[in-house]
Amino acid sequence: MDLQGLNLAIVGATGAVGQETLRLIEARCPGHTNLKLLASKRSAGRTLDVNGKTFTVAETTDDSFDDVDIVFISARTEDSRRFGPAAAAAGAMVIDDSSAFRMAPSVPLVVPEVNGADLDWHDGIVSIPNCSTTPLVMAAHPLRQASPIRRIVADTYQSVSGAGGAAMNELRDQTRTIMHGGPAEPEAQPQQIAFNVIPQIDSFNESGYTREEQKMIEESRKILHEPGLAVSATCVRVPVFVSHCVAAHLEFDAPVSAGEARELLSQMPGLVVHDDPTASAYPMPVDAAGRDAVFVGRIRKDASHPNGLAMWIVTDNLVKGAALNALQIADAAVARGAVHGKQS
Ligand code: A2P
Repeated sequence: MDLQGLNLAIVGATGAVGQETLRLIEARCPGHTNLKLLASKRSAGRTLDVNGKTFTVAETTDDSFDDVDIVFISARTEDSRRFGPAAAAAGAMVIDDSSAFRMAPSVPLVVPEVNGADLDWHDGIVSIPNCSTTPLVMAAHPLRQASPIRRIVADTYQSVSGAGGAAMNELRDQTRTIMHGGPAEPEAQPQQIAFNVIPQIDSFNESGYTREEQKMIEESRKILHEPGLAVSATCVRVPVFVSHCVAAHLEFDAPVSAGEARELLSQMPGLVVHDDPTASAYPMPVDAAGRDAVFVGRIRKDASHPNGLAMWIVTDNLVKGAALNALQIADAAVARGAVHGKQS
């Protein structure tokens, strides 16, 4: 990854995605120490080690970005709304993990393997998609070579890390409490998450969909450049720490065989086909956690439609679902000459 020489800032460095970003910087940019680690006032003064150097976390302020080339923001949406424009105004390229700017017409929403060319028209801020949208479009995109997609129905099984470190702690503590006969007492999640599944992620809108489901619908259309694509989603939180799963049903203009789909998917960069029913081989969260790829299995004709395909998609939501996608955007932007902040 060619980020050497660039000054990088990470807003939310102490959070679940921020920590994964630092791990990936160590793995992919060894020796890179031009880093500024930012979080809330609560974390100011805390130290974190990256690439053999000890950094002191600072409080994020509007003035944090003067000497920065690329800013990764993974904090609360309101933090993105405040610090994203401030960082862009200071001349940095902002790669934002929140929903704050994703649907703004002037902001590219990018999965580099799918629509990396959209980086060419950014105006200071680039958004990364919701952590369930990314694996869905990674699997849908290559199949368009076989036939245009008419409709997608996607049902998710999303881990608690998608809701941040507090939700991970809640699953751990609640599991222990319930095992000892105690009460669930949900705080970070809207309902009990241990030994349960919750068919609600984020709040409901008037149509009966949740905002998470609406994000999957709208973001998929934007990334695939298919504004009229029919998409429906049901997003469900499950008691898993890391990795999101999507059961996806795709309907095409013409029939697409499972074999043809397997072939096209296996040629897609960043995607691994793991699909052998005879050996009970299919992707699962425990296997995907900590890995870079989007994994696809259970590829089969959809029995309910002659032009339909069903599949099962799994990825680490903190890696390709968030931190890795953000770093790949930075890398692709450098390669395309699209990092044009004042520092560069
Ligand atoms: P902090 O640890 O100081 O609260 P997660 O997604 O795991 O919940 O992490 C959220 C991240 O967003 C944390 O790094 C958190 O920092 C950071 N954050 C929360 N509030 C702010 C803020 N006002 N300014 C900058 N970062 C913030």
